[in-house]
Amino acid sequence: MRSPAEPLAFTLNGKAVTLHADPARRLADLLRDDLGLTGTKIGCNAGDCGACTVLLDGAQMCACLIPAARVAGCTVTTVEGLADGATLAPLQAAFLRHGAAQCGICTPGMLMAASDLLAHTPAPTEAEVLDALGGVLCRCTGYRKIVDAVLDVAGTSAPVMPDATRAVGARLAKVDGAAKLTGAEKFGADALPAEAFLTLRAVRSPHPHARFTLGNFAALHAKHPGLARVLTAADIPGRNLYGIYPTGKDQPVLAEGYVRHRGEAVCALVGDAETIAAIGDADLPIVWDVLPPVTFDTGGPDLHAHAPDNVLCRGRVARGDPDAGFSAATAYARIAVRTGFVEHAYIEPEAGYARRVGDRMEIFACTQTPYMDRDELGPILGIAPEQVRVVPTAVGGGFGGKLDLSMQPLACVAAWLLHRPVRMVYTRPESMAATTKRHPSRIVAEAAADAAGHLTAFRFHGDFDTGAYASWGPTVANRVPVHATGPYSVPNVLCTTAAIHTTNPPSGAFRGFGVPQAAIAGEALLDELAAQIGIDPWEIRRRNALGVGGVTATGQVLGAGAALPECLDAIRSRWDALRLEAAAFNECHKSLLRRGVGIACMWYGIGNTSLANPSEMVMGITRDGRAVLFSGAVDIGQGSNTIMMQIAADALGIPVADLGLVAGDTDRTRDAGKTSASRQTFVSGNAAKRAGEALRANILRRVNAGGEATIVLRGGRIHVRHDGGEAVLDPAPLEADAEGIVLSGSGTFDPPTTVLDADGQGIPYASYAFAAQIALVEVDVSLGTVRVLRIVAAHDVGRAINPTQVEGQIHGGIAQGLGLALMEEFVPGRTENLHDYLIPTIGDIPPIETILVEHADPLGPYGAKGVGEPALVATAPAILNAIAHATGARITHVPATPARVLAALNGEDA
Ligand code: FES
Ligand code: FES
Repeated sequence: MRSPAEPLAFTLNGKAVTLHADPARRLADLLRDDLGLTGTKIGCNAGDCGACTVLLDGAQMCACLIPAARVAGCTVTTVEGLADGATLAPLQAAFLRHGAAQCGICTPGMLMAASDLLAHTPAPTEAEVLDALGGVLCRCTGYRKIVDAVLDVAGTSAPVMPDATRAVGARLAKVDGAAKLTGAEKFGADALPAEAFLTLRAVRSPHPHARFTLGNFAALHAKHPGLARVLTAADIPGRNLYGIYPTGKDQPVLAEGYVRHRGEAVCALVGDAETIAAIGDADLPIVWDVLPPVTFDTGGPDLHAHAPDNVLCRGRVARGDPDAGFSAATAYARIAVRTGFVEHAYIEPEAGYARRVGDRMEIFACTQTPYMDRDELGPILGIAPEQVRVVPTAVGGGFGGKLDLSMQPLACVAAWLLHRPVRMVYTRPESMAATTKRHPSRIVAEAAADAAGHLTAFRFHGDFDTGAYASWGPTVANRVPVHATGPYSVPNVLCTTAAIHTTNPPSGAFRGFGVPQAAIAGEALLDELAAQIGIDPWEIRRRNALGVGGVTATGQVLGAGAALPECLDAIRSRWDALRLEAAAFNECHKSLLRRGVGIACMWYGIGNTSLANPSEMVMGITRDGRAVLFSGAVDIGQGSNTIMMQIAADALGIPVADLGLVAGDTDRTRDAGKTSASRQTFVSGNAAKRAGEALRANILRRVNAGGEATIVLRGGRIHVRHDGGEAVLDPAPLEADAEGIVLSGSGTFDPPTTVLDADGQGIPYASYAFAAQIALVEVDVSLGTVRVLRIVAAHDVGRAINPTQVEGQIHGGIAQGLGLALMEEFVPGRTENLHDYLIPTIGDIPPIETILVEHADPLGPYGAKGVGEPALVATAPAILNAIAHATGARITHVPATPARVLAALNGEDA
């Protein structure tokens, strides 16, 4: 055994390294903290996620599980060792071409696992790729483009080359892709202050519901000189409450003697990292008075004075006469559905640091919403929002979970009070225990149709467990009634919701805001009605599909671009073929395996529900003749940096390669709203287009050129070709602003919507995305296991600004929909890690056929709509309908775990 005094020598990325290290220190920490190689990521620190995968003597290993002593005399290769200087390795280049990195946090691990495979199997089969990469989790991509990239580097699939001739519509590689592939990208835990900093750890409640008292911390300070401060609620300089809605500031930064969920922070330790790590929760003077939990089923005392009976809020959409619609019907179906907690499980736990600069606060952290963070942090600190600067780091997945504040308030309060930079990195269990989830739901829905299969009435009520605090509960309560009918024409509707407080962790925003849960109920009803009437499940959807001129449950008449009928038509031949294929399989295999094919449709309103959600963008020309887009839209992996650049470049009329990007920083960019509600392409994309057009008009006006002129940036000058000649504009002598911009254009866009009346009537969204998906599944009726064999997904995207990225969003959404349907269920206190909480692995995702239906939305930038959330909504109901088709058993409690499938097969409550 090596002693700590003995130097540790090994070869790292081809170079000899010798250093002193604790032999028990984790290799991941050694690489990141001691050697500065932050390309190796930490997603769990427990061997579950594979983000830390490196090569040890050529074999893939989890660096978080390897003690430093183990690498003595060995060769270690990290992601930083793959590229040859500025030239990407072929594998990295393949990832870039295929859009195989979205947020990029899993990418180093994926690359290292694939490198191991390719070193000894240069031309692997798909099965070998799935096997080799099976230990690395990705929450964004749905894995299919990763598989394509690995197969492509081996020369067994066609390359997808960037096309830069015209930006909109081109499969351009991500503008920020290379940094994700080399390990250079700085995520929340990678960004460190230049100065010496303190570390903060929150102390959290182990109980879902309790009162507590904090004792005297003097003894703790005496014992631990490295402990700089223990923060309690009394230390919050401003308002010890925050929340998403102006009326919903109900969540304390630090609890004041009373906790409403397990994982709620009660105090925080600030000091040097070793000291903080050495202090256990049991060392702290906290006395707990444990109270009975308040659950969805049991109820309990009111958790907030402003929410009688624990009802945070209600939602409602009513149209026509539902009773008459049900009376007149030929077919009637009813279903009661339950869905569980779903955890975002982004691979990057929340992380960042804060520093005080005079009377201003700067926070560098992963976030989906810098301006909302700024506006919340100011009051918490007791300063104006403008005194707070939010600089988003790269975000290792968000999916709605990084819309709420997490580590930011505590780090900011500590840095503010101590005048020292303060860093905070959530552990995986902390991330899972303390942050928001998808709302569990309890839904009852009824639908009726006439003999021709036309829907006559729909009634729906959904209770949503919004947990301890409001977070995005009102959004779910308001969005669901609008969408509950599904994308179908129904003349008589009553849809209601309630968001209910419990002592669970807060439910918040998660890709779909309750619509995926509602779709599970609605799409099951469609199948049941079709069966009663004797028509095909595809047919009943086609007969009722909302298209151009269709009237929604809120009375909105859909305009051009509503393309569900076209989505259904696009999958018709696959539907017929797969149903025949499944029937043939079941006929031939009189075994315990049964195959089924399910279909589901979805619609999704883009942007906020009947609320203003403007974006503003600025483009400019610098004194040295460069074009720059200043975009406040945060790219959380979905690719908005690239999409904004493509739109802005075409609007100005220059190649993307000639355009620079400043992204996110609240001191440097205007407010582009939150990265949420699938709004960035549609809303911020319109703002980017208008900014590009404004800058173009500004330039052309200066040289008296008409709109058809061509702009070329070359040699520090702006060349404008028009009317057979060329004018040259020299920006150097022009007066520059603080960003060095001499010519600029700005653009804003706010989707035109109206306030809904008491019956929910009005125009909640300016644009809707539609989709139809098919799932082919195989059910083992003896085990209750379900394998998804294939997905076909036709999505109405208006216009695909970047088809590769759109496909990637659809793949990723489908993977999360599969998890929702079959395996994901968060249980506080029991599944707070990536070992017990299962998300789909590379082996769970079947081949996905993606069909992009492009009917330009007249309001969209170049016709585009959002796709981030629409990608997920139809998948779970399609899978559940496929299980019912395969077995005759209807699953009404998701996820459809083997136990629930077996129960349903036995006719028990599932
Ligand atoms: S960080 Fe090592 S496996 Fe997750
Ligand atoms: S790209 Fe894989 S986790 Fe985000």
